[in-house]
Amino acid sequence: MEKKFVGAIDQGTTSTRFIIFDRFGNPVEKSQIEHKQIFPKPGWVEHDPVEIWENTKFVIRDVIERKGISPCEIASIGITNQRETTIVWDKNTGKPFYNAIVWQDTRTKDGVEKLIKDGFDDWFRIKTGLPISTYFSALKLKWILENVSFVKEEANKGNALFGTIDTYLIWLLTGGPNGGKHITDVTNASRTMLLNIEKLEWDEEILKILDIPLGMLPEIRPSSDPNLYGFTKLDFLNCEIPIGGALGDQQAALVGQTCFAVGEAKNTYGTGCFLLLNTGSNLVRSRSGLLTTVAYKFGKNPPYYALEGSIAITGALVQWLRDNLKIINKSSDIEELARSVPDNGGVYFVPAFSGLFAPYWRTDARGVIIGLTRYANRGHIARAALEATAFQTKDVIDAMEHDSNIKLEVLKVDGGMVVNELLMQFQSDILSVPVVRPKVIETTALGASYVAGLAVKLFTSEEELRKNWAVDKIWTPNMDENTRNNLYKRWLRAIEKSLNLAD
Ligand code: G3P
Repeated sequence: MEKKFVGAIDQGTTSTRFIIFDRFGNPVEKSQIEHKQIFPKPGWVEHDPVEIWENTKFVIRDVIERKGISPCEIASIGITNQRETTIVWDKNTGKPFYNAIVWQDTRTKDGVEKLIKDGFDDWFRIKTGLPISTYFSALKLKWILENVSFVKEEANKGNALFGTIDTYLIWLLTGGPNGGKHITDVTNASRTMLLNIEKLEWDEEILKILDIPLGMLPEIRPSSDPNLYGFTKLDFLNCEIPIGGALGDQQAALVGQTCFAVGEAKNTYGTGCFLLLNTGSNLVRSRSGLLTTVAYKFGKNPPYYALEGSIAITGALVQWLRDNLKIINKSSDIEELARSVPDNGGVYFVPAFSGLFAPYWRTDARGVIIGLTRYANRGHIARAALEATAFQTKDVIDAMEHDSNIKLEVLKVDGGMVVNELLMQFQSDILSVPVVRPKVIETTALGASYVAGLAVKLFTSEEELRKNWAVDKIWTPNMDENTRNNLYKRWLRAIEKSLNLAD
């Protein structure tokens, strides 16, 4: 049977998708299902790993059955995932010892403060490219080892395995307790705060300081791996499909947007916003609060690095307006509500729900809404929420230009929020650069399908992939400099307030 498709599992913060693409990068069929967000205490965010695994099987099956595709026609599967989210499970039963601790969770903030106080900040930054933060996996894993009964003992006996979501899914897809492969890709590894970013190996000194057993960590592989991670062992598929690669979701979007050249950047608007700039094989260290991260590694080629500006809360703020304030019924209603007013009416909203990430890295920052008068209404709050996404993006782009000396000429965008015309126009206005949306906005899944296809030679070069990229829409700046500067000045004032709410 001709192998003419590639599959991508996209396991994100709010949902799991399976998308099949043809060899020209066109989506052929997709299935998507949301999972529960669990908030046991303020600042804690968890997912149920078993629900995520069941959802993964569901979406694969759904796509194949609905489209009538034979699994034998799928040349390879790639995995992309919410990064940093941490799971520890029993190697013999596959049962998680605890819920997945999600990247947004801030329960480890005391541990962060202690390490910083003990003078480890630069030490971690040099080794891992990351500031010490609740965001990354290391302290979440340490928390599980120290707070969940039996985990430490089982880890010391070699029975407890650690993984980010990619690792957990690869292990289950390839057989779980019956020979599952315990593997991560190098981009996901670079988000744990345990990887030596120059050597691309687990850093034994860090493991020692955090008291994490090396034996529970997965093997690190290239993002696209001609040796393959393994084959699916799923009883509802009549063919075993090769698993050719994996990428953290933001790196996957960089690949999906074919930002293969140094200086190319993309911004993905999802739960949070993540702006990545390709810096090539050159590891650029940030002086302005950005992360140095692995962008991708294709087979035996050298790794590519990126500078990243991570923003924790953007799309999640729209969900919060929907679920907590109930001022909209569905997320897409935000645009109409924001358009019901001509401007923000002086209202600014800093959604520091998980502290502030780049470029501030302040765990203790808290959300604020400022500028309220009796004139303000739901429309102003909606508008301020959308503008917050654009202002936060400007914060990280300013930092990026400072670090890289590269002036951004155009911003390639993708992710769920880029259907919002008001936001995209405001983004272009506030940055004063054109904003470009490609035809395929499922770039995260597309990137995963590219690494999977490259591994089995369904795709042969980056040039071939570039040809698949096409423009859908461009927004050009349409705001005078004075207005832009005034708006941004007030935003920075709101940030100041958010940073000064700590006890
Ligand atoms: O680092 C967190 C990021 O990978 C989450 O992405 O799209 O699931 O919100 P998303």
